[in-house]
Amino acid sequence: MPEHFLTGTELGADGLHALLDRALELKADPAGSQALRSRHVALLFDKPSTRTRVSFEAGVVEMGGHPLVLRGEELQLSRGESPRDTALVLSRHVAAIGVRTGDHAVVEELAGSADVPVINMLTARHHPCQALADLLTLREHFGTLDGLRLAYVGDGNNVARSLALVGGLAGVDVVVSSPSGYRLEPEAGARLVDDPGEAVAGAHAVYADVWVSMGDEDTARERRAALAPYRLDGALLDRAADGAIALHCLPAHPGEEISADVLYGSRQRIWDQAENRRHAQKALLEALLR
Ligand code: CP
Ligand code: NVA
Repeated sequence: MPEHFLTGTELGADGLHALLDRALELKADPAGSQALRSRHVALLFDKPSTRTRVSFEAGVVEMGGHPLVLRGEELQLSRGESPRDTALVLSRHVAAIGVRTGDHAVVEELAGSADVPVINMLTARHHPCQALADLLTLREHFGTLDGLRLAYVGDGNNVARSLALVGGLAGVDVVVSSPSGYRLEPEAGARLVDDPGEAVAGAHAVYADVWVSMGDEDTARERRAALAPYRLDGALLDRAADGAIALHCLPAHPGEEISADVLYGSRQRIWDQAENRRHAQKALLEALLR
């Protein structure tokens, strides 16, 4: 059975820390892994993407491989071919399959039939590749993850869930603050706090994501109203620990979930986070293809 990366917890704590060590090495030496020489990686996108597509595509090339970017609507999958048959065919040609789609069950189904590792590049439930880059950014900025507290404010969505699961696995104290109706389930393992000010007290990083995720457009108006008190702005960041940084997975909506002064200011590490997608995913590909 190939090893897959669907929720991020597959790595285990030791595997996760080793991956972050390796990602830092690869950031310092971008050509340092040629693990994909003469190999192909399928990157299947059913939803829009800027960072994930570019970071995977560039990362695979840096590792000596060939990325095949496949749009969902161009595949027979969009005409009813099953995820099972798609996985069986792709496995005959490529060394790994990355998938971005809405329904997490589709990624599980692909993984159930693929003979090569399947990587979740975002579903409505999980965004584990983002969590890897987030942890890498914390490691890089603070030098260690030991004793760190991260407060996520906003919708209890895929990004919040992956931070709770993968951040928790890495030993980070993750606090998630959301209004009623948008809370993360307690089973994800984060501490859940209603009041954003209370949530950020003592936090070393404060994290925001969009209020309207891909697929949630029909409820945009209610979401913006309910989530308005959960904006990451300078006043909220002032209530976190001294030296706290602001994080955001992007794309951002300045003036909504994050203020422009924080997004472009001196206390953010958001653009490093976006770069770190590539370094973390290269370490992931190397680990899965060992
Ligand atoms: N953060 C993130 O996954 O960005 P994209 O949707 O642009 O890939
Ligand atoms: N929660 C967002 C993340 C985008 C990277 C979404 O799913 O649209």
